[in-house]
Formats: sequence, structure tokens, C-alpha cells
Amino acid sequence: MPKETGEPKFSTKTSPKAEPALLELFTDGIKDIYWAENHLVKTLPKMQKAASSKTLVAAIENHLKETKTHVARLEQVFELLDEKVQAQKCDAMEGLAKEGEGIIESTEPGTATRDVGIILASQKVEHYEIATYGGLTQLAKTLGLYDVAELLYQTLTEEKAADQKLTDVAESDINYQAAEEA
Ligand SMILES: [Fe+2]
Ligand SMILES: [Fe+2]
Repeated sequence: MPKETGEPKFSTKTSPKAEPALLELFTDGIKDIYWAENHLVKTLPKMQKAASSKTLVAAIENHLKETKTHVARLEQVFELLDEKVQAQKCDAMEGLAKEGEGIIESTEPGTATRDVGIILASQKVEHYEIATYGGLTQLAKTLGLYDVAELLYQTLTEEKAADQKLTDVAESDINYQAAEEA
């Protein structure tokens, strides 16, 4: 075993100024997810209204509250970066939200089949968010922006929990009910 020198493997002094291109890429990512979270604040109520299962309605309602917190956290991130709050259209989230709306249009109101479709669409959204926040948290650490990383990590944890909750709702009874309807 090589002798530990006590020296950190990586410099902890990485200044944002030292990596202008990477910082710009990171900031663009924050603007992009800021647009996405704001878009979700508008689309989640539509999903909630279209859902029938009480557990699913409650899960979406709870995640809508969390999503508003995600918006607020990103505003704190802009402040820490000394950047003005700015949204940059996220085509991926627009597409995922459209897919959710399409599922609502193509299924009958009040059916478990529609609920299953809503869960499928919602989990795609959560996975997109998990990928985004996972990557941005790591990048914030690389840039030495530890306060920012902490905020992003808090949101990442909530996205993972929301995804798990949707899996639980689907596994508990909705998928079986939908199979009965078929
Ligand atoms: Fe979110
Ligand atoms: Fe989410």
C-alpha cells in the first residue's frame, strides 16, 4: 500500500474562473432545467386532474409542491453563480410533457389504464430529471461549487423518491386494475 500523504487527490481550490467553458456549459444546463421545472409546474396539475387513483393524485400533488421547491432552489443556484435568473427552453422536457398529454387524450377518463399511462409518462420525466441533476451535481463539484452541488443534490434525492413512489403506486394495484379492464 502506498503511504498516505494526507494530500487531497484533486485540488479543492478549483475556481470557477479557471474553467470558463465548463462553467458556461454548467450554467446553460441550469437554465435548461430551470425551464423544465417551470414547465412541470404548469403540466403537473393537468396530470393530477386526469388521474383517478387517490394514491396517484396525492403523489402528483405532493411532487407538484416539491417541483415548486426545485424552481426556488434553482433561483438560489443562479444567485450563488452571480447570474441573473434565466430560462432556456428545454426541448426534451417539452417533448416528454407532450407525450403525457397525448396519453391523456388517447385514454378514457376514470380508467386505471389512463392512470398507468400517466405513471409511465411521469416516470420518464423523473428519469430525465434524475439524469440531469445527477450530472449537474457532479459537474458542480468538479467546478468547486460545493454549495450549488448541495442544492442540486437535495433536488436529486426528491426526484429519486418521486420515481420510487410512482413505482410503488403502479405495483400496489393500478397495473392489476388496468389488466382487468383490458
Ligand atoms: Fe424537479
Ligand atoms: Fe420531478
